[in-house]
Amino acid sequence: MTSTPRLALITLTCLIALLAGCAQNQPGTTPSGQSPTRSTSTGVVPSGASTSPTGPAGTTSATPSPSTPAKAVDCTKVKCVALTFDDGPGPQTGTLLDTLVKAQVPATFFLVGQMVEERPAMAKRIAQTPGMTVANHTMTHPMLTRIAAAKAAAEITKNTRLIQKTTGVKVRFFRPPYGLHNKATDAVARTLGQAVVVWSAGALDWQYDTPAKIVQVTLPQIAAGSIVLAHDVHPWTIKAVPTLIAKLRARGYTLVSLDDILGKTRPGATYARGRH
Ligand code: NI
Repeated sequence: MTSTPRLALITLTCLIALLAGCAQNQPGTTPSGQSPTRSTSTGVVPSGASTSPTGPAGTTSATPSPSTPAKAVDCTKVKCVALTFDDGPGPQTGTLLDTLVKAQVPATFFLVGQMVEERPAMAKRIAQTPGMTVANHTMTHPMLTRIAAAKAAAEITKNTRLIQKTTGVKVRFFRPPYGLHNKATDAVARTLGQAVVVWSAGALDWQYDTPAKIVQVTLPQIAAGSIVLAHDVHPWTIKAVPTLIAKLRARGYTLVSLDDILGKTRPGATYARGRH
């Protein structure tokens, strides 16, 4: 399949980023590390709100409606965790979606434009699945801080247009590849109305390749408010998700959307963890 070299390239690039020390669990490169907005405990957006397709008529009921997704959760009162999946849609993203829907777990998918071009139907399916959020992870997954500012801006803007055109959903979250961003890229996100969302816990699924190891390394990093980075382009991650969900729930965590865990966000501001 044509996607294989690209997946390999992304994996290789991730490895290079690791060696360069820029793909840690808690991106030290974020300029702000600022607290997410805390002033809107009443402003929690229902998990499914962002996923209502606004695209072409007749597409809204293409996906069978799963069980009602989790209602809006107040993450200042319960222990919340948000799952995020980057770099897809991949060949097995549909399997992951089935798992999430069955477990009634919301999630956010930070889509890479090149992958959306390969699997537009899957991008649309994610967007139309209640509880799921599609978000921006650039067109080609470059290190944005190491390319010309104009190129970086194009990476962010072009993917926004692509996702919105493909899914009919407005993109509200941006994640820079490797967590690498700067004032210029933040300004682009701000202009597009997107909050910059990094992460506070990593599944390390670019480093480990068994479901058991993914679960083992992820769980100790979790605390109330955690935003978990995983990748739906790795089969071992997709296999790990059911166990991860079960173990998180057994520890008293509620799995929520980015909207629930972050509350109201400011475009261009950076968020590494949610309310707790
Ligand atoms: Ni990525």
